[in-house]
Amino acid sequence: MPHLHIEKFETIELPTTVDDVTFHFIANNAAREDEKLIATSYEGEDFFLLLKDDGKRVLLKTDKLTRPASIYNVHKALLAYAKAAGLKVVASNVPEGGKNVHLKEANALKKIEYFAHEFPTDKEVHIEVGFGSGRHLLHQAANNPDILFIGIEIHRPSIEQVLKQVVIQKLDNVLVLDYDARLFLELVPSNLVGKIYVHFPVPWDKKPHRRVISTTFIKESRRVLKVGGTLELRTDSEKYYAYSYETFIAFPKITLNINKNKDIAVSSKYEDRWKKQEKNIYDVIMINDEESEELKIEGDFSFDSITSTQEYLLALHNKTIRFEDGFIHFERIYKTDKGVMLRVSMGSFDRPEHLYVMIEDEKASYYPELPLRSKANLHAHKELNKVFNG
Ligand SMILES: C[S@@+](CC[C@H](N)C(=O)[O-])C[C@H]1O[C@@H](n2cnc3c(N)ncnc32)[C@H](O)[C@@H]1O
Repeated sequence: MPHLHIEKFETIELPTTVDDVTFHFIANNAAREDEKLIATSYEGEDFFLLLKDDGKRVLLKTDKLTRPASIYNVHKALLAYAKAAGLKVVASNVPEGGKNVHLKEANALKKIEYFAHEFPTDKEVHIEVGFGSGRHLLHQAANNPDILFIGIEIHRPSIEQVLKQVVIQKLDNVLVLDYDARLFLELVPSNLVGKIYVHFPVPWDKKPHRRVISTTFIKESRRVLKVGGTLELRTDSEKYYAYSYETFIAFPKITLNINKNKDIAVSSKYEDRWKKQEKNIYDVIMINDEESEELKIEGDFSFDSITSTQEYLLALHNKTIRFEDGFIHFERIYKTDKGVMLRVSMGSFDRPEHLYVMIEDEKASYYPELPLRSKANLHAHKELNKVFNG
């Protein structure tokens, strides 16, 4: 994670623009003095820089929830703030130079909003969940130029590595997304996708709620797959294979193909390792044979005017509200010049979203972006609106 270890934090007059980076306001954690968020925008993206002071070190870094797609934009913003405030940098892992040439050219990296607003539908789509080193994704893309490959990963170094390869190999049919694939599927149009690859997912034996394969994931896959489309799980974990098989077969109607130790066109880094150890490799391939209804999600993310006092809002810190199919947890509360900002996790239990909500002048809004339009989030939003009004 890029960061500047600084001697001492200094505030600046806001809003201010330095080297094309604009700093808007500062939100101070209301419960502890060691944390501040600096609202920043650069190249059309809004995000926070995070200041952490643990008593030993003062670090200026990026806020994980809102970090921009390009790591270069984080570097740029950190350096711009340090320059504006005249910060003394003790140590840093932020390169002073320009963009890495490959990352600069990479426009394959998209934000979730891109898919939410204009899901590409002009080509057949294949999705790879958790592409890791990207060997399989890149191989498939190079060999199938007429298919659009969407690679989803949550591990930043893997994403950067694959973006470089996309540029080097001049691939124009790969889009990359840094997001939880389970949430992503909820906004994919119905009957569009030819294949969904889930190769060597983390088995999460101790935290099963984090597994990619689940009843909901299979249901969503069936909805987004076109007739004849396939969901392809490949795993070396006997436990994960058994769990997945049970989860698939519990559906009243389903078509499955099972293979053991079948070679495929390209072997990933993980696969090479397991083969060396002579482990068995299992494929569970689900073939979708039904057309699904169009995706319909109703509702919006607007709030009523907020009549609650600041005291009431500050007291929400650490509270959890549960309802039938989800929850809201108030993780942190910040004070801004004009009001309060809350960091909440909300939505379904197994796939919550983490978000910021600003409340100023009796108006509440998500900042910097709206939640993903999923059924669970829309329901949680309704409940949040109720909480804000006591
Ligand atoms: C064990 S690795 C396998 C990587 C690659 N498929 C291979 O075969 O080498 C699993 C990958 O899935 C990613 N991952 C785990 N949960 C995910 C999720 N919910 N959405 C997207 N990627 C996820 C992890 O970051 C990790 O890179």
